[in-house]
Amino acid sequence: RQLVFSGVQPTGNLHLGNYLGAIRKFVALQEEYDCIYCVVDLHSLTAQMVYDDLADQTRQITAAFLASGIDPKKHIVFNQSRVKQHAELAWIFNCVARIGWMNRMTQFKDKAGKDRENASLGLLAYPSLMAADILVYRATHVPVGEDQKQHLELTRDIAQKFNNDFSGRIADLDVGVEMQVGDETVNGFFPLTEPVIGGPAARIMSLRDGSKKMSKSDPSDLSRINLTDDADVISKKIKKAKTDPDALPGELAGLESRPEAKNLVGIYAGLADISKEDVLKAFGGQQFSAFKPALADLAVEKLAPVASEMRRIMADTAYVDAVLKDGGERAGALAEETMKTVRDIIGLVQD
Ligand code: TYM
Repeated sequence: RQLVFSGVQPTGNLHLGNYLGAIRKFVALQEEYDCIYCVVDLHSLTAQMVYDDLADQTRQITAAFLASGIDPKKHIVFNQSRVKQHAELAWIFNCVARIGWMNRMTQFKDKAGKDRENASLGLLAYPSLMAADILVYRATHVPVGEDQKQHLELTRDIAQKFNNDFSGRIADLDVGVEMQVGDETVNGFFPLTEPVIGGPAARIMSLRDGSKKMSKSDPSDLSRINLTDDADVISKKIKKAKTDPDALPGELAGLESRPEAKNLVGIYAGLADISKEDVLKAFGGQQFSAFKPALADLAVEKLAPVASEMRRIMADTAYVDAVLKDGGERAGALAEETMKTVRDIIGLVQD
């Protein structure tokens, strides 16, 4: 049985990195898999507790999913907090995972900064909730950008430790499936999830600094292309994107040590759905003064329809809320099935 799960936080503006690194992959995977796509509102509380507009931001991500082509009837789209089983399983995983594992997460180290003692417990436990999101559906494939790789490795560690700690119960209740761990075949309840990362757009960098990833939280709006930017803003940001003075190389090797050039080529490749090699075949030898306008035209061509569809969908709040409610009901039924077994495995008394 194969199932795709992924999530996006309703914090700040969705940008080109989220779109190319994640959402576009969500759309592609729908053809082959059953998919569950979640707006992870509880995760947003780890960044800040009080928002003016968390509900609207949740609807905005939902609208982005739908505008990009995710089908909420064939698949499931919902917001995390509706399905209480995520939080329940996260608590159990808090007791499976070790503090040392969480302390090693680079995202935690970045976000907590120097004053770690003062970071919220939620920020530290963030990956535990993420593992619960995935494993409460026993999802097998998770499409994400490169920055989430470490969290997915931790998800596998949690699944493996749970399977191992409870191997006797899992066997007694006969609720395990065979899986391969290294050379060994073991019987486990939770699958070891495969990350789906890759392609030219797995890590889109800031337009102002090729060493930093494009991010919702960068104070400079010029660093990112937002999904809601209009054509003029997109063109201006690409025109202002940092580059070096050389022409584009004819081959990939020529992009090493040129992070800004590499990033723009990756963005072109991601938007056009071709390889970076093919972009260089077309543009090798040309100056940025020629490449940037072509990139801007392509970005506008690909993103403008998504932005206008997003606006159209967002205007219909009742529709968006109905999608989330319906998705939440279907997700909740699946999650409860898993949790019934988890409670039995652990020995929690239930009806
Ligand atoms: P979030 O909301 O920060 O980002 C959503 C998705 O966008 C990808 N992404 C990028 N891809 C390429 N280049 C970039 N510059 C870039 N920036 C962001 C992210 O990798 C992500 O796939 N922890 C997750 C949300 C989450 C989740 C989950 C994901 C919660 N539970 C369960 C998968 C499965 C996050 O903060 O994503």
